[in-house]
Amino acid sequence: MPESQAINQKAVKIVIVGAGSVGVTTAYALLLSGLVTEIVLIDIDAARAEGEAVDLSHAAHFAQTHARVRAATSYADCADAAIVILTAGVNQKPGQTRLDLVRTNHALFASVVPQVAAAAPDTILLVATNPVDVLTHAALELSGFPPERVIGSGTAMDTTRFRHELGRHYGVNPRNVHAVIIGEHGDSQLPVWSLASIAGMRLRDYCAQKGVAYDEAAMDGVAARTRGAAYEIIQRKGKTNYGVASVLTSIVEQIVKSSDAIVTVSRVGEYEGVGPVALSMPCKLNHTGSHMDVPLLLSDKEREGLKRSAGEIRGVIESIRE
Ligand code: 2OP
Repeated sequence: MPESQAINQKAVKIVIVGAGSVGVTTAYALLLSGLVTEIVLIDIDAARAEGEAVDLSHAAHFAQTHARVRAATSYADCADAAIVILTAGVNQKPGQTRLDLVRTNHALFASVVPQVAAAAPDTILLVATNPVDVLTHAALELSGFPPERVIGSGTAMDTTRFRHELGRHYGVNPRNVHAVIIGEHGDSQLPVWSLASIAGMRLRDYCAQKGVAYDEAAMDGVAARTRGAAYEIIQRKGKTNYGVASVLTSIVEQIVKSSDAIVTVSRVGEYEGVGPVALSMPCKLNHTGSHMDVPLLLSDKEREGLKRSAGEIRGVIESIRE
């Protein structure tokens, strides 16, 4: 690495807990992004973390900027991390819902999160393990951190899939589609149809301008494919990793660059009178974390849907206390 680069680059250390496929794909995406200077992998299987770290450190040679990748066996190594990404846990098998994983992964969080919080009291926790909303709520309680510093990847993934599906349907670049999925990263998620737009026009206006009918059945298909995408992928390859790793990398980018970008991420709050509960709404992301200062104008039906989604997640949170 040229010495000038080493001097100019601000240190950004990211710890990834869990060296499974989401963890290491995220490490790889972060490495290539040039956003970070150090990546630390921690896994219960120390040899696996070590092997992945050495492999990734060879890839670092080709990254935009130099980053060090190493494995660690102690949570003390979370000290000074800007962000600790939690990806550890069992993942869905074909036919399982995200909520089916709750007891096993909650027990894991109960052991891991207090150790991370003790070692890195000022860090931001970024939760990816499913069920992500329930575990974001658990991570908040177990860490004692303020809600803005405990972020779940939430429906950032579903929002991306929704835009992808809408872009395909309308034949436009998904980046020109503004549309969000809110609520649970799971089966009770909610597409916000009332605010979906292309090139600044609501979908119905866009269709009218184009002289095509707004196709309600096709939109139901878009929502169903968005909701079912992970099931379809897991059915075929047994896991999802590239999509979620890219979403995590993008969330890290907004935090590290303090961009104030608006992203649908999960965080604990009160939603339609239900709470405390973690679910996704559009939040502003910057170096202090996620901020719920994006007022979303929902239709009455959407508010009802959000309340239902919040109630479902809250129900699961209460069931694991029993
Ligand atoms: C995903 O949506 C399984 O939650 C994971 O890709």
